[in-house]
Amino acid sequence: MNILVAGGAGYVGSHMVKQLVRSGHYVVVLDNLSTGYRELARYGRLVVGDLGDIALLDSLFQENSFDAVMHFAANSLVGESVTHPSMYYRNNVVNTLNLLDKMVSCNVRYFIFSSTAATFGEPEYTPIDESHPQKPINPYGASKLVIEQVLRDYAVAYGLNSVSLRYFNACGADPEGELGECHDPETHLIPLILQAASGRRENITVFGRDYPTEDGTCVRDYIHVEDLCEAHALALKSLTKNQALGARAYNLGNGNGFSVQQVIDAAQSIVAKDGKKISVVEGDRRVGDPAVLVADSSLAKNILDWQPSYTDLVSIIEHAWKWEQRF
Ligand code: UFG
Repeated sequence: MNILVAGGAGYVGSHMVKQLVRSGHYVVVLDNLSTGYRELARYGRLVVGDLGDIALLDSLFQENSFDAVMHFAANSLVGESVTHPSMYYRNNVVNTLNLLDKMVSCNVRYFIFSSTAATFGEPEYTPIDESHPQKPINPYGASKLVIEQVLRDYAVAYGLNSVSLRYFNACGADPEGELGECHDPETHLIPLILQAASGRRENITVFGRDYPTEDGTCVRDYIHVEDLCEAHALALKSLTKNQALGARAYNLGNGNGFSVQQVIDAAQSIVAKDGKKISVVEGDRRVGDPAVLVADSSLAKNILDWQPSYTDLVSIIEHAWKWEQRF
């Protein structure tokens, strides 16, 4: 297939492009490199540009006859979304609308959208399935939820078939060590822990030990980036198999919750093999962190036939550690 990957120079997008190219697809990457990296767009044909540039979208869709679009391009920091909502609604909502309208006018009918667990807000129960109420508590989650609704409306009105994939905690790296996470600033737990191990930062701060969990630290559902990409590939297959699929949405996690302390302990034993040690300091709770966020991914498993391969922390951290050691 001929596939446009918006945001293909970012963390999840770059892994997806590699997987698509390896499977024989032709991929055009559109990325403005605001949070992506040219070095990560090593597979596919990179076009540097912004989804806000309608003229660029016109020419891109005119030159290429795309069969499908995967959309990873977004701002995704919860804290930043609270202080800069305009940026989040413009990039995550308005720019996505530009892309969707271009698809509709060119009759490109398959769309895969990176959504998030943040659309659920404070969990009312866990594990979180697709029936859980979606009440986001920050503009990031709200911006993604708007697009999920847009996709339902576009399916009815314009026949645009889509799958929204709600990631829980994306993590890990390309097992071959070519790609990985490099956010600036980095805010995610696993890369921060590994930076503390490699010496790129002094320590890792545990944000709160007084949560109602077994060891008092927050529990999250860490899902390997390779497993996320596999779900996208299966979602694409489901779209091509059913020409009238409409707008579907699936939660993606591996279903196993791990606490911050468990992640630190697992990382500690992996980096110890390389003679490294992680220094841990105690901190206050981070505002807006629920105690437990774990996905129920039964629907993706049953309907897409998806099965995460990395259900424990070891490979996730080993792959991320291999990537961290490049710096
Ligand atoms: N944490 C620390 N210390 C740190 C960084 C994180 O203790 O230095 C803790 C957090 O408090 C949290 C856990 O590690 O309990 C994971 O934090 P991350 O920042 O790695 O991930 P989040 O769970 O906050 O974020 C994820 C996704 C977001 C999504 C959000 C939904 O990465 O895109 O879940 O709540 F919006």
